Amino acid sequence: MLHIQIRINAVSQAKPEFGQAKLQICRKEVSMKILVTGGAGYIGSHTVVELQNAGYEAVVLDNLSNSSEKVLERVEKLTGKAVPFYKADILDREALEKIFDQEKPDAVIHFAGLKAVGESVQKPWEYYENNISGTLTLVDVMRRHGVKNIIFSSSATVYGDPAFVPITEECPKGQCTNPYGWTKSMLEQILTDIQKADSEWNVILLRYFNPIGAHKSGTIGENPNGIPNNLMPYITQVAVGKLPQLSVYGDDYDTPDGTGVRDYIHVVDLALGHVKALRKIEEKAGLKIYNLGTGTGYSVLDVVKNFEVASGVKIPYVIKDRRAGDIASCYSDAARAKEELDWEAQYGILEMCADSWRWQSQNPNGYEE
Ligand code: NAD
Ligand code: WQD
Repeated sequence: MLHIQIRINAVSQAKPEFGQAKLQICRKEVSMKILVTGGAGYIGSHTVVELQNAGYEAVVLDNLSNSSEKVLERVEKLTGKAVPFYKADILDREALEKIFDQEKPDAVIHFAGLKAVGESVQKPWEYYENNISGTLTLVDVMRRHGVKNIIFSSSATVYGDPAFVPITEECPKGQCTNPYGWTKSMLEQILTDIQKADSEWNVILLRYFNPIGAHKSGTIGENPNGIPNNLMPYITQVAVGKLPQLSVYGDDYDTPDGTGVRDYIHVVDLALGHVKALRKIEEKAGLKIYNLGTGTGYSVLDVVKNFEVASGVKIPYVIKDRRAGDIASCYSDAARAKEELDWEAQYGILEMCADSWRWQSQNPNGYEE
């Protein structure tokens, strides 16, 4: 059954916050329209803010399976621009056809997908169906409408246990330890083959490292369902008193302090990486792959210490056994994105922690009032 809701808020009178009006004026000449699938989610919502700030028109498609429509009201408040929104599923071909007929986007930034690693082990069919069938449907509708520009949310998880660190894009893809990771790896292959067969396609695969942080306003941020799996939302929920203590999964890895090392990246830096990737698409990208990371690894205990400094809140923790499927170290070589996209991360770990904390402390229950 077709189910499209179109919500275009009358926010033309809304006041832009955080000095964004100036930015809009600077980039007024740009008028590409971008369909953002999964645009109500954590990374998608921050990207919509940066797209609008940079002068792009953003249209959001999301089935709200892991997000709230309230995010979009907050985005509108931040940018002073309406966010056209379609509540729709990427598996719903009929809905997609209508959206493409109506909106005629120039490019798609494709965030929509299920992303919980543990859940994907329990529900592999749901993950392959949603992420792979959904993307195949989306891409088919795109080509039927002559829209052959896509930026895809991939992940450092495609490197598996990486052959070397820092990880360059040349590092061979590895064995994923869960169905979620395989959906990313397989979708990279599918999109690569589609671009190879038809050079009109511009496909940019962005391999994100570990996004954390939130918009400086503290009004949008990561809002996991239930008990968080990822480190930073777990820490912020301990800090706000919703969880008693952090479990540190393993202190016997081959790393400086024995705990796992990751390349944490501020979600706003990540969002800005998408704006730069769009510029690349405008220049005719063909097929391109970029790591989006800072190039610096921090251990679990480094993150805890930085969070304590940034927030002034002590995080009690206990050392537990290693978590199944975890690796010791994963951090990027981010040189290619700097050279080819003119993008590099601006925010350091303290700011990431401070911004995660501002979001969590101002919104202890996420988007629930
Ligand atoms: P998120 O869950 O906050 O956002 C994903 C959005 O997609 C949600 O709003 C959800 O409702 C929507 N969605 C899911 N299935 C859909 C469907 N069938 N049709 C329409 N909408 C659908 O996740 P996020 O952290 O913002 O991640 C965005 C993308 O980046 C995902 O593809 C994720 O796999 C990828 N990624 C995330 C991370 C991370 O650590 N957050 C790391 C690497 C890659
Ligand atoms: C980071 C470090 C944990 C929680 C996952 C996905 C990956 C990508 C990003 C989407 C590790 C440790 C964690 C806790 C802990 N997502 N940790 N206690 O595992 O690097 O990556 O999210 O693509 O695919 O696998 O991120 O935040 O879960 O863990 O000690 O309660 O923190 O062991 O060393 P990870 P994470």
